[in-house]
Amino acid sequence: MSNGQEAPVFYKPSPEIVANANAKSYEELARHASEDLPGFWAKQAEQFEWFQKWDTVLDESAAPFYKWFTGGKTNIVYNCLDRHVATWRRNKLALIWEGENGEVRTFSYHALNREVCKFANVLRSMGVKKGDRVTIYMGRVPELPIAMLACAKIGAIHSVVYGGFSVEALHGRLEDSQSNVAITCDGGYMNGKIVELKKIMDEALKRAATVEHVIVFKRTGHDVPMEAGRDYWYHDLMALPIARSAAGGNRCETEVMDAEDPLFMLYTSGTTGKPKAILHTHGGYMVGVATTLKWVFDLKEEDRWWCAADPGWVTGHSYIVYGPLLLGATSFMYEGAPTYPYPNRWWSMVEKYGINVLYTAPTAIRGLMRFGEAWPNRHDLSSLRLLGTVGEPINPEAWRWYHRVIGKERCPIMDTWWQTETGMFMITPLPVVDLKPGSATRPFPGVVADIVDDQGRPVATGEEGYLVLKRPWPAMLRTIYRDPDRYVQQYWTKYPGLYFTGDSARRDEDGYFWIIGRVDDVLKVSGYRLGTAEIESALVSHPAVAEAAAIGLPHEIKGNAIHTYVILKAGHEPSEALAEELKVHVGHELGPIARPEKINFVPQLPKTRSGKIMRRVLRARALGLPEGDVTTLEE
Ligand code: WTA
Repeated sequence: MSNGQEAPVFYKPSPEIVANANAKSYEELARHASEDLPGFWAKQAEQFEWFQKWDTVLDESAAPFYKWFTGGKTNIVYNCLDRHVATWRRNKLALIWEGENGEVRTFSYHALNREVCKFANVLRSMGVKKGDRVTIYMGRVPELPIAMLACAKIGAIHSVVYGGFSVEALHGRLEDSQSNVAITCDGGYMNGKIVELKKIMDEALKRAATVEHVIVFKRTGHDVPMEAGRDYWYHDLMALPIARSAAGGNRCETEVMDAEDPLFMLYTSGTTGKPKAILHTHGGYMVGVATTLKWVFDLKEEDRWWCAADPGWVTGHSYIVYGPLLLGATSFMYEGAPTYPYPNRWWSMVEKYGINVLYTAPTAIRGLMRFGEAWPNRHDLSSLRLLGTVGEPINPEAWRWYHRVIGKERCPIMDTWWQTETGMFMITPLPVVDLKPGSATRPFPGVVADIVDDQGRPVATGEEGYLVLKRPWPAMLRTIYRDPDRYVQQYWTKYPGLYFTGDSARRDEDGYFWIIGRVDDVLKVSGYRLGTAEIESALVSHPAVAEAAAIGLPHEIKGNAIHTYVILKAGHEPSEALAEELKVHVGHELGPIARPEKINFVPQLPKTRSGKIMRRVLRARALGLPEGDVTTLEE
């Protein structure tokens, strides 16, 4: 604490926060949900427009292929846009955007709806239909959410690939999704430099057979090759009559979707080299995402909300794009790096736009903390009311800095635990609950979490175990696209009937959960989820590498840093230059986020009798721990 006294165990919300909260009592909501789970979620679902009401709230007959709101017909975009433009919100700002170069663009609900309708008409005219997949690989520009919403509006399934990924990652995702249309930018701005999005797309497309059309949004204006008959400029298409509806004007009919129809797929890393496409649907996802945002971040009609994630990750899907629009909120989105051109960039935007609620990741907080308090202290941050974090456990030191320096000890911090798979916050405080730095507190009402041992038995208070979820929730993934067996095997096989999260955790005497970290071969590097197997396969694609292993080791800012162990092929010698070349190679294949911190050349790797690399042993050795002390599920 700033006054040097010992920190209190609990941080209590102010009476004002409690008096104004959207969700007044955690206990009451949790009780309602535990007594009647379908009734609890039905009540939330009733706040949306349904073309046809559901017959069954929760259908467990084909578990673990749970279904929500079956028989119901809706479209999430109808609830994000159509519904609002019919009210006074037509004139409310839906999106405020600032480019890294300082450019500002704003969209009222009317304007956003118009752009989405026009682009949806363009996609339809290109032959995109309900159920088709569209890959979106763009920088952080407003046209990224516009493209997502346009797809969803016509019932196409969007697959957004994070703009920081590179050729190999993009290629794999294009192939697996079998997209016919891809949407990209000429380039993106990041840290004052241009990210060559179109060039990477071109390279990835050399081997991806299904893509027929590429739509390119012009952001940087630098020269990029355009292939005649395949590539089209976004602004050219939007100016053509095809962007107008058949009846004229900028309208576009919103497709009627079953609640269980797919909305999007999002690739995420798992234990094998092949990323998996997590599939989410229109109905349940809508209800889960909107309810969690409304209660956890307590959004009010007049608020300005800033989720500082990338729309290309699940956090951006749920809480930059769909959640805020469902609530009719005003969202702020920033294109570039937090420290560009100076480390006060974020704080200057909080002041300039009067941000009320800020949601970011521990790695960003630690990164900004490093520059000292003078940077935020130059700005008026008094508009802030609530703060949030996501992506990895937040160390209490970063929590306290965020609380004291950014929130001025007034703003509760919502530490939200969730996953690409869960679609929505799962273990999280509400603003009315007492907080402990470093704990995501308790499960959201309706979420039933537990911590179990290897046999699936609950562990004692204070003991570490595997975090599992015991009841379905509306925004849960429905399957892995085109791989239902893997869905069952990954999430529902270790403990039949329980959802396996891949995280370890413990619970304290107050029932508060403390997430410890992944127990599988998934790393969180600067909050980004990467699989060790992806990094390893990028390494072995280099001609000098025979075998490789990747592990995560603690890093002050990134949380985890990638350390690799490489066996060279005969005829290649270890050298500094080769280590550098391998780092560059991985960066080129997967993207800068996957670039290893360190390459260790080794003569052999520790393996199980069946030949699997024991990353646990590598990690223990690197940390100087006894080899039995670090557990994973790899053996
Ligand atoms: C980790 C991100 C601790 C966890 C939304 C989880 C967290 C993985 C937290 C999912 C948190 C996320 N505290 N750990 N508040 N939030 N994680 O799919 O290991 O990118 O399993 O989704 O991030 O990462 P994903």
